[in-house]
Amino acid sequence: MGGDTLNEDKRIDMTRAILVTGGAGYVGSHTVAYLLENMGNDLEIVVVDNLINSYRSKPGQKKPESLRIIEDMTGKTIHFYNCDIRDVQAMHRVFQNHLIECVIHFAALKAVGESVTKPLEYYQANVSGTCTLFEVMRDHGVHKLVYSSSCTVYGEPQRLPLDETHPTGAGLTNPYGRSKYFCEEIMKDLCASDKKWSVISLRYFNPVGAHPSGRIGEDPRGTPNNLMPYIAQVAVGRLEELQVFGSDYPTVDGTGVRDYVHVQDLAEGHAGALACFNKTEFTGFHAINLGTGTGYSVLQMVAAFEAASGKRVPWRVAARRAGDVAVNYADASLAARTLGWRARRTLADMCADTWRWQSTHPHGYAT
Ligand code: NAD
Ligand code: UD1
Repeated sequence: MGGDTLNEDKRIDMTRAILVTGGAGYVGSHTVAYLLENMGNDLEIVVVDNLINSYRSKPGQKKPESLRIIEDMTGKTIHFYNCDIRDVQAMHRVFQNHLIECVIHFAALKAVGESVTKPLEYYQANVSGTCTLFEVMRDHGVHKLVYSSSCTVYGEPQRLPLDETHPTGAGLTNPYGRSKYFCEEIMKDLCASDKKWSVISLRYFNPVGAHPSGRIGEDPRGTPNNLMPYIAQVAVGRLEELQVFGSDYPTVDGTGVRDYVHVQDLAEGHAGALACFNKTEFTGFHAINLGTGTGYSVLQMVAAFEAASGKRVPWRVAARRAGDVAVNYADASLAARTLGWRARRTLADMCADTWRWQSTHPHGYAT
């Protein structure tokens, strides 16, 4: 559908804006903070988030806690819309109210286990919602997009490290992973249909860590599914012990190996992607890995976290988790060549920054 558009005269006076969907969430909030900390005043940040997975503001506060803290940290304003990306009318209003130049699209549901029991909700939010966003972008003449993809699109690795030419889509074991893969295929079709589109799909490996201030971080609802927040909650005393899912993988110590990447490095990767939109070679669809290129086992992660926090993290071996691969790590050289991006933070940084956030916010934003 076509939305009303502002006439050119009105637009001339407007400040250029970046729309960040899902900007109140974990990766989104760190990216928003990074952009506000590093960009000039000639750009504004507009966030759309339905707050389904972010901490709601206290009564009387309009903005989610993560964004309120970022405004406090940076002294800058974030334009916030509490709305769902599937709400076409509301999305049109956002594009009418701001001179959006490009979109960073984080908004999605991301709990792998839940996606198995609620596939329709996941395809609705992640695939249908993404199509709705693209329609609204097209109607407003906005064709630049950075998409939050995942190394999960590679499925079971056929070779390591995983580079961007590795096949995608085969052997995906859950609707969440498939929704990321489907969105990439949709974006390829979109770029093939109209040369105006420039899409950079960033395939994150395992995001961990927190802002070095310790004021924003990952705040999972309920018991964490992912390793790092689970370890952090054991260290802070919220959970009793870590269950190590499998100790008989063909790895250094039998436990699963992953490429953990600091969320601040990811934020820099998004800024690098935005900078590419000025280059003509960045039209069309580009998938780019964001990882460190180094894998660590579960027990190496436990040891690193104990060293950073000075706390013991009790663990015991449990059965393998269904759908888990043994080893996963990135070839991150394309990001270096094209975005000029390299993960700079070490495993010790990832653990220290997670601990600074977790120890000062044992119950996340609700602390
Ligand atoms: P998150 O849940 O913390 O953030 C997502 C945000 O999107 C939340 O604030 C949520 O309220 C919002 N949202 C969800 N559905 C929405 C909708 N329909 N309309 C508007 N807002 C909506 O997740 P995250 O870890 O920050 O992940 C961000 C993106 O990165 C997601 O697309 C995710 O699939 C992708 N990703 C994450 C990881 C990871 O481990 N964190 C790894 C690879 C890829
Ligand atoms: C998971 C998701 C993947 C998603 C990624 C995002 C699954 C099957 N996959 O992958 O789709 O893109 O997160 O970062 O959920 N582990 C434990 N005990 C725990 C938790 C995890 O031993 O309590 C182990 C896992 O077996 C794995 C490693 O820690 O070897 C990392 O697990 P996790 O953080 O869940 O990430 P992924 O498995 O890579």
